[in-house]
Amino acid sequence: MKPNCSLAGAYSALLLGAVTVVRAQANPDPIGTIYDGPLPANLYGSNFTYPWPIRQFNFYNQRQNLSMAFMDVPSASDCGTDSKTAVLLHGGNFCGATWADTARNLSAAGFRVILPDDIGFCKSSKPQGYSYSVDQQAMNINSLLTALNITNPVTVMGHSMGGMIAARYGLMYPDTVHQLILVDPLGLEDWVAKGVPFLPIDQIYETQVVQTFDSLKAYEQATYFPNATWEPAYDVWVKMLADIYANDYGSEYAYVMALVTDALLSQPILYHLPMLKTRTYLMVGENDITALGKAWSSPTVAATLGHYDVIGPAAAAAIPNSTFYMFPGLGHAPFMQDPVAFHQVLFSWLD
Ligand SMILES: *[C@@H]1O[C@H](CO)[C@@H](O)[C@H](O)[C@H]1NC(C)=O
Ligand SMILES: *[C@@H]1O[C@H](CO)[C@@H](O)[C@H](O)[C@H]1NC(C)=O
Ligand SMILES: *[C@@H]1O[C@H](CO)[C@@H](O)[C@H](O)[C@H]1NC(C)=O
Ligand SMILES: *[C@@H]1O[C@H](CO)[C@@H](O)[C@H](O)[C@H]1NC(C)=O
Ligand SMILES: *[C@@H]1O[C@H](CO)[C@@H](O)[C@H](O)[C@H]1NC(C)=O
Ligand SMILES: *[C@@H]1O[C@H](CO)[C@@H](O)[C@H](O)[C@H]1NC(C)=O
Repeated sequence: MKPNCSLAGAYSALLLGAVTVVRAQANPDPIGTIYDGPLPANLYGSNFTYPWPIRQFNFYNQRQNLSMAFMDVPSASDCGTDSKTAVLLHGGNFCGATWADTARNLSAAGFRVILPDDIGFCKSSKPQGYSYSVDQQAMNINSLLTALNITNPVTVMGHSMGGMIAARYGLMYPDTVHQLILVDPLGLEDWVAKGVPFLPIDQIYETQVVQTFDSLKAYEQATYFPNATWEPAYDVWVKMLADIYANDYGSEYAYVMALVTDALLSQPILYHLPMLKTRTYLMVGENDITALGKAWSSPTVAATLGHYDVIGPAAAAAIPNSTFYMFPGLGHAPFMQDPVAFHQVLFSWLD
């Protein structure tokens, strides 16, 4: 059905009037500008062709100029009123583009969808001297929304590392988040408390700088899809990553991965889940066994890590306003393994 645009517009203007929050005044986030001009195909080492035009958010942070790439998918049905906005945050081994199918589904359902590449990742700048704390990444996302003049409370969905950032976003900006979806988020357990030893950043870098298509695929097969067949459709996402390692920013990217891993290890979201005020949907794949530091832990410690079938329900019980879903037989990336089921589960809950 074609929406009645003049009526829909008037109605959502009314709604917006009621819920508009003054995002810019409420926080001291970095201020930046949006760039919509031409960009090279290889942007900060990623030459992957994204399904929508890249826009850039340029801002000054931690004493340097940074550039965050993002896609901005208009709602297919709300006549440009932007009454509903969703922000989708990618995992550490993914990019904004990984959410393409989900973004199309959300757009069809009336959402404007913002797909950022976090600072350090994919088509965004890769500062080598930067605190990649989860809070900073969440604040960067909020600054982007401020620069875009998005004032209505947003739906925030994050996968893996993006799930940690989404949860932190909910804690930092409870009044501007309408609902939160965490998909196999990292940080539902405290890796260090469970015995993961400290690995110096230079050594993490050494494990990263040698990454290739084959090593990334082997890791994802073993960890993300432990007892599933590798589908040819997954290859495109592995190649997207492998090309960053192979391109002009390969070494910088590997070092960012090391800095990020180091930052994430000390910031599990586990302890802060009871403080989440937002309506939250936590979904995990039953067979997900992803855990930071597993590769350099003793077999005894490694055996205790990444049991999403156990840490998932425990985390959901700690979040005051949460719904929990476990995808039977799926691993770390349910939206890749069974997109149809993933979207059904998502849309059954979305407001
Ligand atoms: C950041 O960009 C601004 C505007 O182009 C420039 O004046 C400034 O020198 C830059 N700062 C750094 C640290 O590069
Ligand atoms: C929604 O997702 C499904 C499963 O990935 C996909 O087949 C379908 O094309 C998507 N819908 C839209 C409107 O793009
Ligand atoms: C946001 O609003 C300001 C003030 O109205 C305007 O100058 C700016 O162009 C807007 N930015 C975007 C990205 O629409
Ligand atoms: C992207 O980069 C990879 C790695 O350098 C290269 O093999 C590939 O040909 C590039 N793709 C395009 C479209 O330029
Ligand atoms: C959960 O959040 C929703 C949306 O904010 C709210 O309507 C509902 O009352 C909350 N439920 C509980 C149990 O807090
Ligand atoms: C699937 O993999 C998980 C994680 O390795 C394991 O616990 C489970 O037993 C496996 N299930 C089957 C049916 O092989």
